Amino acid sequence: MKAIIYPGTFDPPHLGHLNIIQRSATLCDKLIIAIGTNRSKPAPVFSFAERKRFFETMTAGIANLEIVGFDGLLVDFAKSRGVTTIVRAFRTMMDFEYETVQGQMNRQLGDLETFYLLVDERYRLISSTLVREIASYGKSISNFVPKEIETAILQKLATGL
Ligand code: COA
Repeated sequence: MKAIIYPGTFDPPHLGHLNIIQRSATLCDKLIIAIGTNRSKPAPVFSFAERKRFFETMTAGIANLEIVGFDGLLVDFAKSRGVTTIVRAFRTMMDFEYETVQGQMNRQLGDLETFYLLVDERYRLISSTLVREIASYGKSISNFVPKEIETAILQKLATGL
């Protein structure tokens, strides 16, 4: 059985992430969405439980998914699951530079291969940071996140609850 990991911070997940999930789930038997921590970013605004619930809600129609969290290095998590391939996405040349370094390092550290999808043109400008910023002003984020999770994101960010 071929399993692939889709790792990320997903703080919060958005339509760009969903598009990558839909496309890569057709390329493997099981897609493992791995919610991790990028230590060079500030601590996530949404808890692990909130991010997991977002994914459960927005991917309800996709059967071959597993949604998990991981701590530590991605290569160690992949090894613990017997997985040798991850999927990542490029939006811009800046992503390309960043992702190639990460990809090379993951190969060197743990023989972990990365395959890359180009972000669909419709989602090229979306980022989790921008979604959080727009939501914090109470503005609509319906063009950026799945409708099933929009209210929960707005409630938390616009009210600070
Ligand atoms: N469409 C639009 N935007 C997208 C996108 C898509 N398909 N895919 C990602 N993005 C955006 C995200 O919204 C995010 O925006 P933000 O910077 O505003 O938050 C940004 O691109 C990239 O974030 P993300 O995909 O969540 O990944 P990340 O760069 O935060 O990396 C880990 C997260 C967990 C994969 C990485 O830090 C990791 O592997 N950590 C574990 C430790 C480790 O092994 N480090 C690597 C050593 S080589």
